[in-house]
Amino acid sequence: MTAVVVRDGEIVPPDAAHVSVFDRGFLYGDSVYEVVRTYGGRPFALGEHLDRLERSAAMIGMSLPIPKRMFAEEVRLGLDAAGNAESYVRIVVTRGGGPVGLDPALAVGALRVVLVLPLPVQAAANYGSGVAVAIVRPGPRAGLLPVSDAGTAKTGNYLPNVLALRDAKARGAYEAFLVDADGRVLEGSSSNVFCVKAERIRTPPPSIGILEGITRRHVIRVARARGHEVLEGDVRVLDLFSADEVFLTSSLREVVPVTRIDDQPVGEGTPGKMAKELLAAFRESAAREAARQ
Ligand code: PDD
Repeated sequence: MTAVVVRDGEIVPPDAAHVSVFDRGFLYGDSVYEVVRTYGGRPFALGEHLDRLERSAAMIGMSLPIPKRMFAEEVRLGLDAAGNAESYVRIVVTRGGGPVGLDPALAVGALRVVLVLPLPVQAAANYGSGVAVAIVRPGPRAGLLPVSDAGTAKTGNYLPNVLALRDAKARGAYEAFLVDADGRVLEGSSSNVFCVKAERIRTPPPSIGILEGITRRHVIRVARARGHEVLEGDVRVLDLFSADEVFLTSSLREVVPVTRIDDQPVGEGTPGKMAKELLAAFRESAAREAARQ
């Protein structure tokens, strides 16, 4: 199992894969990124991740330093060199280095990194018994990034999410669900949120300032294809507490049932049938789609 770093198109040994202390990604989180996983060794939805990378960059006034198809080649280069059974792939683009100062006009030469690591194994208990989440209300500065109908940019500015997760872990939970000042449930610290009531699935819309997750998108598609009703609309904390089921989605975790929220059981307190059905259907569809690439 190997880690491979592709920096500006060149494979560099992980120990020597350094970044300048003047890099704006390091100084300000002035960067965008994506996390992709493989199925059968092939990246799932790479095209969609690269589209989102490009959209994220545009939302913060950056353009990608190379065309998307070259990023795809660099991902393949990294995957081939690593030869892992399954990999985690992180694609990072920073606005580059230059004189120290906030002004983005100071930036010189964007930096790009493709990081390929063995895919972290998820605990089987997360799927078998479900996970606990904690409700976290981040401070007002958390929402300063641009939002469009397609959601927020995926930037290197993850401090609110890092602190929310820290808070959740301190309360014994596996993930934080972020709730805004109006009581609307946004998303997890690195996941999207779904709830199910009377067989109807509901998930917050990207326009409220969340990341439009690619797993979220595929889970919605798979659910609708199986005849389930999915509504993109406001979800309130009370909706979670009165739901039959709650689950979260992300590229690395796929579909994880949430069985406790702030020490209260969700539904029966055990993983629900919708989460189980959609996990199986999503996995099958992702593996099939990755094999076609
Ligand atoms: N994060 N919301 C946030 C804030 C996220 O960081 C992520 C994913 C998601 C789910 O998006 P997707 O289904 O496209 O993975 C939602 C990745 C996995 C990460 O940063 O590790």
